[in-house]
Amino acid sequence: MAAYVFARQIWEKPDSVLGFAIGSTPVGMYRCLIDMYNGGMVDFSQVTTFNIDEYYPMSKVSPQSRDSYMWENLFSHINVRRERVYLPNGGAADPQRACDEYEKLLIDRGGIDLQLLGIGRNGHIAFIEPGESMRVNMHVIDLTEDTIKANARFFESADHVPRRALTMGIGSIMNAGRVLMLASGTAKAPVVKQMFSGVITPCVPASMLRLHPDVVVLMDEDAASLL
Ligand code: GLP
Repeated sequence: MAAYVFARQIWEKPDSVLGFAIGSTPVGMYRCLIDMYNGGMVDFSQVTTFNIDEYYPMSKVSPQSRDSYMWENLFSHINVRRERVYLPNGGAADPQRACDEYEKLLIDRGGIDLQLLGIGRNGHIAFIEPGESMRVNMHVIDLTEDTIKANARFFESADHVPRRALTMGIGSIMNAGRVLMLASGTAKAPVVKQMFSGVITPCVPASMLRLHPDVVVLMDEDAASLL
């Protein structure tokens, strides 16, 4: 279903700007998009893509980078043009400057038409961590212990997880034409419940999506089990 939301976006607007996210959850959707591409159902030749976040520091060529994930799970298998693929630069010497440049590129390309999001166990979207306030634009953020622990599975150990990240701000996400959120597994059930029925607060960044006019949430029964 998630792949169809993306395919429909491209059918309606072949030069769409797509916002992509990584994680375990979207892997199946990317696989379906590859199948659709191989079946001649969808053409990525005119799309532009932006990824929403990256660890900092993170070398582009590291197996844990967004670059590696996206090329391995999607881009190498479809006809997206390399020059229209944008990923935050986790290797930049000046991370805030890299964020400002990325934000400008995104604005120049007209903003995001369809943004894919997952959800962290602590309610984060992209790497916008829970806190008392949220920044509007792309920025550098300190990761919470919970996020470091949750993502340790992709590294040798929690000690190897970078402590900081570059993340889109809530402004770019709220400005996206449409948002598609995917959630799966019982570990996400408590936060999914909070997102839908708690107060709207930066302490649960995903709760902000209730203020967005066009959000699709797709989840499995486990993630929805407390609703
Ligand atoms: C990371 C990413 C998020 C993603 C989350 C959930 O923290 N920054 O964008 O939504 O993981 O990932 P998973 O799908 O693996 O549970």
